[in-house]
Amino acid sequence: PLVTSSVAVDSSPLPSNLTQDDLKKLAAYKAVEYVKSGMVVGLGTGSTAKHAVSRISDLLREGKLNDIIGIPTSTTTHEQAVSLGIPLSDLDSHPVVDLSIDGADEVDPSLNLVKGRGGSLLREKMVEGASKKFVVIVDESKLVKHLGGSGLAVPVEVVPFCCDFTRGKLEELFRGAGCKAKLRVKIGANGGETAPAVTDNGNYVVDLYLERDMGDLEAASEKILRLPGVVEHGMFLGIATTLIVAGKSGVTVRDR
Ligand code: 5RP
Repeated sequence: PLVTSSVAVDSSPLPSNLTQDDLKKLAAYKAVEYVKSGMVVGLGTGSTAKHAVSRISDLLREGKLNDIIGIPTSTTTHEQAVSLGIPLSDLDSHPVVDLSIDGADEVDPSLNLVKGRGGSLLREKMVEGASKKFVVIVDESKLVKHLGGSGLAVPVEVVPFCCDFTRGKLEELFRGAGCKAKLRVKIGANGGETAPAVTDNGNYVVDLYLERDMGDLEAASEKILRLPGVVEHGMFLGIATTLIVAGKSGVTVRDR
């Protein structure tokens, strides 16, 4: 595939009939090239990261990688890694992670991210924030000019206690950006809303839908984190070190 970056260029074009999932897999496989034997590796969550996890397990099985310790960022990834036989640990035992690989919901030109539409933002931020290198893998649909600008939400993990109070406070914070804050719910089998979606940490998620960009991201982050009731938000500012994007015209690798 075509790979453009300061590091690698391989100019054969990609076939035109690739699906979005094929692109995710290409980005994931490229990221796994950064994994070396003996590393502690943060294992991301979501449909893109799952390709990276299975690729790591393939390379372990083939003897091309050895002595990897995985640090999963969700119970789902934990289950996938266990089923594939990847040795696992956690940040208590391995507080420094060599490399993490994970997807994202949005990526801006400075490699700031929105994550957590899959609900795993807290563990992801803990593991990826503790990583020497954090490689983000996306298909090109995730690239945005401003975070929160894709019409999709910026997720915030909140404690269940009086979550509607916290939801209201979050909406108030970004009224100027036309914010609507919604408690995330699990959709029942018949399509009806049933109950709040619960994170791996037993918390709820409030999704912030913004009509306009929320301005200074660091200031927005501070404001959210100062609210009692908020546990963490899904803006990952200055954490990603490398971005791998797979698009119809090839795979691009960019370092921050
Ligand atoms: C989960 C996440 C995911 O990384 C993000 O939602 C991207 O998911 P996908 O690779 O399925 O598009 O942050 O909390």
